[in-house]
Parts: sequence; C-alpha cells; structure tokens
Amino acid sequence: MRTQVGIIGSGPSGLLLARLLHLQGIDTVILESRSREYVEGRIRAGVIEQGMADLLREAKTGERMDREGLVHRGINIAFDGRLERIDFPKHTSGKVVMVYGQTEITHDLMKAHIDEAGGIVHYETPAIRVEDYDTDHPRIIYDRSGEQKELICDFVAGCDGYHGVARKSIPADKITNFERTYPFGWLGILSDVPPVKEELIYANHERGFALCSMRSHTRSRYYIQCKLDDKVENWTDDAFWDELRHRLPPEEAENVTTGPRLEMSITPLHSFIAEPLRFGRLFLAGDAGHIVPPTGAKGLNLAASDIYYLSRALIASCQEKRTDLLDRYSDAALRRVWKATRFSWWYTSLLHKYDDDVMSRRMQISELDYLTGSAAGRTVISENYVGLPYEAFE
Ligand code: FAD
Ligand code: PHB
Repeated sequence: MRTQVGIIGSGPSGLLLARLLHLQGIDTVILESRSREYVEGRIRAGVIEQGMADLLREAKTGERMDREGLVHRGINIAFDGRLERIDFPKHTSGKVVMVYGQTEITHDLMKAHIDEAGGIVHYETPAIRVEDYDTDHPRIIYDRSGEQKELICDFVAGCDGYHGVARKSIPADKITNFERTYPFGWLGILSDVPPVKEELIYANHERGFALCSMRSHTRSRYYIQCKLDDKVENWTDDAFWDELRHRLPPEEAENVTTGPRLEMSITPLHSFIAEPLRFGRLFLAGDAGHIVPPTGAKGLNLAASDIYYLSRALIASCQEKRTDLLDRYSDAALRRVWKATRFSWWYTSLLHKYDDDVMSRRMQISELDYLTGSAAGRTVISENYVGLPYEAFE
C-alpha cells in the first residue's frame, strides 16, 4: 500500500487530520488497532473550545455540533460552602465554550470522512512501528490478520494516543519526555439524568474534588476524585451519588437527580510532554505527544490545535512544496501545549485534595477566595478555560 499521508490512530486527531487533508485533495490512509464500534463507544471529553469548534466547522463537520451542542458562557467553582460563577464573555471579550461530547465528534467525523467521502480507515489493523522516518519515504509496518505488511508514505502522522507506537519508534536519545503523575484519579459516571445546574461545577471539598458536567439537558457526566488504586467494582451507583452530594454545597447537593449508570470508569491523572513533535517525516499529534489531567478539559482541545498546525503544514508541503511550516510545526504546537499543560496542572492543584495537611487546604481556599474576588483572577481562569488563541500559521 502507498499513500501521501499515513495516519496511525482514528481518534479525534487522526480523523480530523484525514478530513482536513481530504478536503484539499490529499490522500490519506488511517490504520486503527480497534474496531469502529469500540472507537465510537469510548466515553471521554465533553468541553470544546472555540478554536476546536471553528476547526470542526472548517472540516465541514460542525453542523450537528452547532445544532445540538450547548453553548456555555461560564463555569461555577464551589469551595468553602460557596458557589462562585465565572463569566467567560465578560472576561475574554465575548468568548464561550461548547459542551458536545467526544463521542459525538468522533461520530460526525466518521460519518463525513468514511461514510460520505469514502476516506480509507482500516480498523482492527494495528501499526507495529514506523521505519525510515528520516528518509523521503517513511513506512508504517502494520499487522493485518496476523500478517506483517507495510504502508509507504510521503509523511506519517502519529495520532495513536499515549500508548501508541509512533512515539516509541523514535530512539530514546532523540526525544525528551517531561512527566508528572498525581496521587489520585477520577471516578466518572454517565447517567441519563438532568444536570444539577445549567453550567459545570468544579468543587474543591475537604473529602476531595468533584465535577458536575453534562452531555445534554438529559444526560449528566459527574466525576469524583478517588484513590489511585480504587476500582469501579468498589462503587455502587448509590455510593457514588452519596459521595458526590457530600462534596457539593447544600443547595446543589439537594438538586442532584440520581439514576442508574450508563458507564462508570476510573481515569488516572497524568501530565506528559514529548519534545520535539517532529522527526524527519514523522509528526506526533494529540495524546501521542502529550497528556494533561482532565481538570480544565484541555486534552481533546490540544489534539485539535496540533491538527490545526499540522494540517496547514502538510497542505503547504503537498500543494506548494513548501517546507517552512513543517519546520515550524513542533515549536508552534508545543508553545500552546506547554501553556495548557501548565493550566491543567495548576487548576488540578487548586481543586484536589493531596493530603490531610490543614495548612495546604487553607492555602487552596485562600487562593480560590483571592481568584474569585478579583477581576484579574477571574480573567486568568476565563482566558485559559476558553482556550488560548491559535497562532497565525501560514
Ligand atoms: P486517542 O483518542 O487516544 O486516539 C488514539 C487512537 O489510536 C485510538 O483510537 C487507539 O485505538 C489508536 N491506536 C493506538 N495504538 C495504535 C496502533 N499501534 N495502531 C493503530 N492504532 C492505534 N480530555 C478532556 O478534555 N476531558 C475529559 O474528560 C477526558 N477524559 C478522558 C478519559 C480517558 C479514559 C482518556 C484516556 C482520555 C480522556 N481525555 C479527556 C483526553 C481526551 O480524550 C484525549 O486528549 C483525546 O482523545 C486525544 O485524542 P487523540 O486522537 O490524540 O488520541
Ligand atoms: C467532561 O464532561 O467529561 C469533562 C468536563 C470538564 C472537564 C473534564 C471532563 O474539566
């Protein structure tokens, strides 16, 4: 097999890249290790920044998002028995975010790219490694029904998530990894119940962090901070709802509607950045190159900003034989990645319980009191939450 751009992974970054390239007449082949049903069924992120929403519109896959997505003009932060609302448009000259699930985005991209445009995605076809990435014809070695085959490409995009093979194809002395782990995870529930409040609530509580999010007016997504070694089997639905209510201010706790789980899962928290994101003709994008803790909802949005830069660089190269944008890809993408990684780390530190130290807790409460009591503090939260701007890249 041969193609212009070989893409490993059909998560949001791989699909969005394929779609944007296809609209410019550039051939792609996606290799995906899991089945289509599995990829479509994964429950993950839910908050979309304006930059990502605009990119989905550019990919002509924003129609349902614009119809069904919920525009959110703020978030609530609960601490010390209080609830403070942060107004985004007021502090960011009009910016907002969109609540629209990763599951829906993946569905819309699959429909447009595969079902309607005939884009090629080989499911249940794991890539094994990338070879010759520093030559003009990098190759993806992959497994098809137990047989090893190769896809010869002009360029390879490693969009295969944190556990993928693209990053691992690079020798250790050519890549630098930065990493931070956290001593807790998130236990999440998805349930067909109306959300407790019309906007998200991020709660700092002495029993641990809690987040009230949603997918629609009738479907809620809630999370509570849990121990790293906790197991879903340890939690009944009732135990989850009780713990969630404990961590919210009284009025919000009273408004929680409970129901059976559609899904329950545990996510460990992790910050990770690989540098650089370009190795000859191999480019890393999305979770393959970096991971953030979910606090602040930056993971999916960073995958989109990488694809904004990478799609433009590949289009300039394929259509105009320009290599300057390829050369700038890694630095441009990483500048935004580092800022969002810093925000996710800081926002995580502000809201979670790390230990039983009373002084640390009082520092958190005092910082939250300061931030929410100052226009500058509210601006810092708003500006980062709605997403820092993409750099002009042309
Ligand atoms: P992925 O979505 O991971 O896609 C990578 C794809 O590559 C997968 O389909 C995988 O099957 C495939 N693949 C892997 N290895 C191979 C191989 N060898 N060959 C072929 N294919 C391969 N972000 C938020 O903002 N908010 C959240 O609430 C949130 N919750 C999350 C919960 C979980 C459990 C996880 C794992 C992530 C969560 N994230 C969240 C992060 C967000 O979902 C990711 O940032 C986003 O999915 C990144 O997209 P991606 O396409 O880069 O990677
Ligand atoms: C979600 O809805 O899954 C979600 C929302 C906001 C976050 C993290 C996750 O910060």
